[in-house]
Amino acid sequence: MPTIHHHISELRLALRPYRTAQRIALVPTMGNLHDGHLELVKIAKQHADIVVVSIFVNPTQFGVGEDFDSYPRTLEEDVAKLATVGADYVFAPTIDEMYPVLPPPTSVLTGAITEQLCGKTRPTHFDGVGIVVSKLFNIVQPDVAIFGQKDYQQLAIIKQLVRDLSYPIEIIGAPIVRATDGLALSSRNQYLSESERKTAPILQQELQYLAKQIGDNQQPLDMLLVAARERMTSAGFIIDYLEVKTAELTAVGDESINNHQDLVILVAAWLGRARLLDNQLVKINKIR
Ligand code: PAF
Repeated sequence: MPTIHHHISELRLALRPYRTAQRIALVPTMGNLHDGHLELVKIAKQHADIVVVSIFVNPTQFGVGEDFDSYPRTLEEDVAKLATVGADYVFAPTIDEMYPVLPPPTSVLTGAITEQLCGKTRPTHFDGVGIVVSKLFNIVQPDVAIFGQKDYQQLAIIKQLVRDLSYPIEIIGAPIVRATDGLALSSRNQYLSESERKTAPILQQELQYLAKQIGDNQQPLDMLLVAARERMTSAGFIIDYLEVKTAELTAVGDESINNHQDLVILVAAWLGRARLLDNQLVKINKIR
């Protein structure tokens, strides 16, 4: 069983003996763990001797009216799952332990990259992610940290944070783990009703179809996106965004599409109470 710590000072003390000769990995989570999280731990074990998993439902990354209060908290089950994949430590702090003052008067500004995509409808979200991830980095001082590629924008922001603040931490993006029908695993999938759960995989099917069309590069990008949005809306999704960006999340249009080998389609869409996120890499096969 992993050892659980709720206090920063205790975790620091426990990790001190490993620091000189062993590599420490951090897997930050908000708990309610599923197979996608366990995959992050398995990857962490390939890159480090000691794996710390943080479980903290971070209030600063939830906006007003979002699901902070109802977000599932399942610490006991989470720890049991982590034991099956060999996590060494669980760090499960209280809100007071993480935030002596809430909201914290210090912020980690993460720049223009936070203002697009999820940042448009969740304007305070990435500030909250930036501060909690910085704190976790300072508390655990890992050699390596693992984040899922499902949260593509979050991963890009964290890479930028590490680069700009010179954190001596290697950031690894882990491939999206999907259910057999293609739906990306997420703790929020449990908000889906039975019939919504049957509809949900259409999101990934649409991304794959769109990726193929964009890769073939035969029709204007805007037209393809308008048609895809219409199909998704007819299937029952309320689209927050569906956009195509470069792998570094800069804008791309028909005039510049041929300059990029690697593009990514990013989507956030509501289905009932669940806000689903997904993304798909695109390879441009044909130059127009
Ligand atoms: O991806 C998440 O679960 C959260 O945003 C993270 C990185 C654990 C920060 O709270």
